[in-house]
Amino acid sequence: MTFDLKGKRALVFGVASEDSIAWAIAQELARHGATVTMGYQKRFLSRVMGLFKDTPWIDGWHECDVTQEDSVQRFFEEAEGTFDMMVHCIAFAPATALQDELIRTTSEDFGTALDVSAYSLVRLCRFAEPKLNDGAGVVCLTYLGADRVVPGYRVMGTAKAALQELTRELAVCMGGRAIRVNAISAGPIRTLAASGVPGFDNILDWMAHSAPLKRNVTQQDVARSALFMLSDLGSGVTGQTLYVDAGYSAVGVPPELDKVRLPGQAAKPIAFGVQ
Ligand SMILES: NC(=O)c1ccc[n+]([C@@H]2O[C@H](COP(=O)([O-])OP(=O)(O)OC[C@H]3O[C@@H](n4cnc5c(N)ncnc54)[C@H](O)[C@@H]3O)[C@@H](O)[C@H]2O)c1
Repeated sequence: MTFDLKGKRALVFGVASEDSIAWAIAQELARHGATVTMGYQKRFLSRVMGLFKDTPWIDGWHECDVTQEDSVQRFFEEAEGTFDMMVHCIAFAPATALQDELIRTTSEDFGTALDVSAYSLVRLCRFAEPKLNDGAGVVCLTYLGADRVVPGYRVMGTAKAALQELTRELAVCMGGRAIRVNAISAGPIRTLAASGVPGFDNILDWMAHSAPLKRNVTQQDVARSALFMLSDLGSGVTGQTLYVDAGYSAVGVPPELDKVRLPGQAAKPIAFGVQ
């Protein structure tokens, strides 16, 4: 039982910039000795080239559009050898679906969000399975919007709920070869994808105020938990969602409610206790 990942190989999908959660996870795996093969989306080529080229622990990087069957097939033909870990850090919803009220979401936008953000895990697992070694770990990234309504998250909440259910289903499908499939529900982090969520800065402020740890999580916090779930340390864990959110999901009502002033509310603190 060890954190030593020397000789282990990981597939990482979802690096778009140095702020990407996928980039932090890849770096964490590499810090423990793993080599990494990257799948990137063509539109981010110029951004990721600077990160990938001449990085000794990256043993290959290939374009992969997860919505295109032939693109995923080509990726897995080009990615040589077998792998011990796979990381899915992929999400997208059309701007129209994020900016308008959910009730006006078109079925086309709904389909796009679910295809990219949820079904892509099924597609990647299907193509990856023959190349994943027995006992491999798979991790995807989800958000609290899957469980509860978060303003501005809209159709992505449904997509993440689907992703979490697919995590459980795939854990059963792949468990026969001891391949484990888990999800990390990360607190809000400033990234390219997050910048598309309306009101994201307010969510960051609210979380930092209300979470038990009194701060937002970082890419590094998420990467460390991914390391646990992908390595042998997580050998008995599959089909689960781990909340890496500074404890926010454990709280029903923020403990410092007396410091929150609602519109029109008098400045006096709320009185607690039985009257
Ligand atoms: N940033 C947050 O606050 C937060 C919180 C919880 C969960 N997450 C999840 O973390 C994951 C990574 O997002 P991030 O915040 O690091 O942002 P990011 O913008 O760095 O990563 C999103 C990635 O999705 C990829 N992608 C989108 N459509 C694709 C397609 N058709 N084919 C291939 N790749 C595609 C993009 O290329 C990009 O690399 C996402 O699943 C996101 O929902 C993010």
